[in-house]
Amino acid sequence: MNMYLDREALLDPLQHASVDQLRSHQLERLRWSLNHAYQNVPAYRARFDALGVHPDDLKSLEDLSKFPFTGKADLRDNYPYGLFAVPMDEVVRLHASSGTTGKPTVVGYTQNDIDTWANIVARSIHAAGGRKGDKVHISYGYGLFTGGLGAHYGAERLGCTVIPMSGGQTEKQVQLIRDFQPDIIMVTPSYMLNIADEIERQGIDPHSLKLRLGIFGAEPWTDELRGAIEQRMGISALDIYGLSEIMGPGVAMECADSKGHPTIWEDHFYPEIINPLTGEVLPDGEFGELVFTSLSKEALPMIRYRTRDLTRLLPGAGRPMRRMDKITGRSDDMLIIRGVNVFPTQVEEQVLKSKALCECYEMHLSRDGNLDTVEVHVELKADHQHLTAAEQQAVCGELSKQIKTYIGISTRVVLQPAFSLKRSEGKACHVFDKRG
Ligand code: DLL
Repeated sequence: MNMYLDREALLDPLQHASVDQLRSHQLERLRWSLNHAYQNVPAYRARFDALGVHPDDLKSLEDLSKFPFTGKADLRDNYPYGLFAVPMDEVVRLHASSGTTGKPTVVGYTQNDIDTWANIVARSIHAAGGRKGDKVHISYGYGLFTGGLGAHYGAERLGCTVIPMSGGQTEKQVQLIRDFQPDIIMVTPSYMLNIADEIERQGIDPHSLKLRLGIFGAEPWTDELRGAIEQRMGISALDIYGLSEIMGPGVAMECADSKGHPTIWEDHFYPEIINPLTGEVLPDGEFGELVFTSLSKEALPMIRYRTRDLTRLLPGAGRPMRRMDKITGRSDDMLIIRGVNVFPTQVEEQVLKSKALCECYEMHLSRDGNLDTVEVHVELKADHQHLTAAEQQAVCGELSKQIKTYIGISTRVVLQPAFSLKRSEGKACHVFDKRG
């Protein structure tokens, strides 16, 4: 018997189900999840009661829209454990993400939750083309961040050999990639660029390495960046999406057989797209804010959690689960510059179109009187350092023109010395907003 088929069936039991079978599974799981939250979390019960809804009111999937949303503020208001639905002695793991207001967002997992998570990440790596026996170098940070341990348990579950490097120590990362010859790397796309620079600095040809696949996520990144990474590293670069509140990495995965749009693992996470201003549920295909309801989580059930991530739902490909568009930004990353809505990824797209510029960029926003001013800081690629002053000026002028044409804002493009912009070791920070 083919071992991989067995493994696939184990990890992805609904992949060959019909859409109807998936929907009936979801309805059953949604009923369980709503009841679990209502019976065991006073804050959910109070919310449902205040709206006059009861889990028994869920007769169809559409009825979910009657239930209240949950947001990051609810996690903060119930800090640290107020939304947990199981006794603390059932919680075997905590993770947390740092917040802007001081209190981190705390999430918890039962042993079953950890097992489910490992299965889903294993499924994600498998769908990306990873197999038992592959060596997986993990450069997502280990610790309170869900990236490192989430990837780790999933890769082990698939039967891979895990190299638990974590983030940082870039020189050592490269030494291990050269010596241990991993087949797969899991890392944020911005840190991959940093590692690629270091590979080249050490005089190693990235194409001579054994790496064949990169599983990149935890931050928005563009198709232009995918192209740049694939070309530089000679690997296939796929997108993994997730968030701590819903589980961690592996809520959706771009599968090798349907490259372009991540598949949402809908048997565990029920997605909706809403109008972020009105909360109205939008039909598939329309852009809006992604909302998830967990279908199997025990420790921290999440009912209609507003992710702030902007995307749309697309039909499935080869599986009954729907896919989503690549997330190009979060509603809270959106900058309003002289009245124009701008996402940093739009600037990334333009920077990467230039053959002379390397992939890193920073946006520095300030205010001159009543006017917003934007500087885009970039660096020349190593093989373009020889450009004359006039040629450098032309590169900057061209980028500024492209940004004006495609995004609609005026910017001053500033060339910085090679390797002077801060390189990412995890999630990149592209925006420095000093407008007050
Ligand atoms: O970043 C989980 C993760 C780890 C995902 C490793 C993928 C790989 P949080 O720190 O809670 O969890 O941040 C979640 O990061 O709401 C998105 O805004 C953003 N994000 C995550 N993956 C992607 C992606 C992890 N593939 C927040 N594309 C999410 C775009 C992403 N944005």
